[in-house]
Amino acid sequence: MIDTQTIRIEATENSRISELDENNIPFGKLYSDHMFTADYIDGEWQDLKITPYQNISISPANTTLHYAITVFEGLKAYRNPEGEVIIFRPQANAKRLNVSGERMCIPELPEELFMEALTELIKLDSSWVPSKPGTALYIRPFIFGTDEYIGIRPSDNFRFMIITCPVGAYYTQPVNVKIETEFSRAFEGGTGFAKAGGNYGASLYPAKLAQEKGFHQLIWTDSKTHEYIEESGTMNVMFIVGDTLLTAPTSGTILDGITRNSVLTIARDWGMKVEERRISVKEIIEAAKDGSLKEVFGVGTAATIAPIGKIGFQDEVYELSDPAEREFSIKILKELNDIRTGAVEDKYGWTYKV
Ligand code: COI
Repeated sequence: MIDTQTIRIEATENSRISELDENNIPFGKLYSDHMFTADYIDGEWQDLKITPYQNISISPANTTLHYAITVFEGLKAYRNPEGEVIIFRPQANAKRLNVSGERMCIPELPEELFMEALTELIKLDSSWVPSKPGTALYIRPFIFGTDEYIGIRPSDNFRFMIITCPVGAYYTQPVNVKIETEFSRAFEGGTGFAKAGGNYGASLYPAKLAQEKGFHQLIWTDSKTHEYIEESGTMNVMFIVGDTLLTAPTSGTILDGITRNSVLTIARDWGMKVEERRISVKEIIEAAKDGSLKEVFGVGTAATIAPIGKIGFQDEVYELSDPAEREFSIKILKELNDIRTGAVEDKYGWTYKV
């Protein structure tokens, strides 16, 4: 265990909590009162502290500004019916942060440091955890290289931080996606499996082109043939074809989503037919045409379960079933929400009480 005495806490005297309106929470605009910081110097994580949320100062030669030596996580805290704060699957995020970090030459962050930092920060800012249905406190842990060096080499020094923001829905309407067959998000041997900042930066230009054509997001395909579905911009993607739940297998190019894993686990428990396998674009388009494509949705921490309303492929746009009438997506969203907010028994041991 990390000795919590080693986390220095400097609480603010000027809380901004009055700025939080639970009836109108835009995603990622308002940050809670405090943040956690630790520095990796001389081969050790040190100087653990919680301070008021504030700007940080870095050198213009900071290696991350130039070479994107950074990885991040996303998780959420909720309020249970007793008003206590619970976090959904934080240990899974701690593990994945290290999987991502290894690929970017970022040193391991002990899981107990992650958990202690998270616990102390969320305890201090617990009043920021909203309770209205559909809201949560989004938690963003991240690590970046802090060397002042513009040559190319792994950084020696790093900073780990956690910031949090109350959020409502990430997508406020069904998502219209375009199947991308020109640009690639990831390739074999690349960083697609990692939650590395650069993956997201590089996805913006193709997404912007799709937005100019009226789509909200892309569905990425494999970089070699563009024939197989990978993931969507901010989430993994799932299909119900006939009575089978289909999703692409995690691989070097697809993020191992924690919501993805949760949905697959529950669906299997419900006795549903689940297939994790390569899914061709052709198969999905044919299913859209013959009516066997019942549901398409994205799954992610920020996105939760996001119904996909239309799929664009080449010059055609396929209108999918009415999201309000989708059996599985509605049922799984409710089940996940009930587990995450402690409304039902958590038989998987996924929730962590702060
Ligand atoms: C998440 O779902 O937590 C993400 O990281 C997606 C996104 C907001 C980049």
